[in-house]
Amino acid sequence: MRIGIYPGSFDPLTLGHLDIIERARNICDKLIIAAALNISKKPLFSIEERLEMIRHSCTSMNNIEIVTFNGLLADFCKERNVNFIAKGIRNRMDIDYEYAVSIMNRKLAPETETIFLLSRSEHSFISSSMVKEVASYGGDITSVVPQFVKQKLIEKFSS
Ligand code: COA
Repeated sequence: MRIGIYPGSFDPLTLGHLDIIERARNICDKLIIAAALNISKKPLFSIEERLEMIRHSCTSMNNIEIVTFNGLLADFCKERNVNFIAKGIRNRMDIDYEYAVSIMNRKLAPETETIFLLSRSEHSFISSSMVKEVASYGGDITSVVPQFVKQKLIEKFSS
């Protein structure tokens, strides 16, 4: 069985992430969507909230597993016999950064490949930080996040 993993902070999940999930799950038997617990950026959403948004947006997908992980991604990949790490590439900066990360991950977990999926052009400008900033000022984020995530952002910023 070919196992892929799509790691991220998902704070929150965007349509850009969902597109990568759809495409990554089509090239493996099982895709693990792994939300990182130990992220350096201070998250807006708790880990439970981030998982809930992923679960809600992926209900129709049958070959995924949604988990959290702590510590090094490479260790988690070895533990779960992951064949490949899927990363979305939006622009040149992502390539430079992800290239370095993939080399380090290969040193740490040589059995696990990293594959890069090019984001669709309509998603290439999306980032979770930008989505949060626009939502915090009441801007319309309908075209960049799932409806459920939009609702959660509205609730978060109105409380
Ligand atoms: N569509 C939309 N947005 C995307 C995207 C896509 N396809 N791909 C990435 N992004 C956004 C993310 O939302 C995030 O936005 P933000 O910075 O505004 O929050 C940004 O691009 C960075 O994404 P990514 O590179 O995936 O980082 P991340 O913070 O979501 O997750 C981990 C990073 C968790 C995968 C990484 O830090 C990790 O593996 N940590 C574990 C510790 C470890 O092993 N460290 C050693 C690595 S060598």
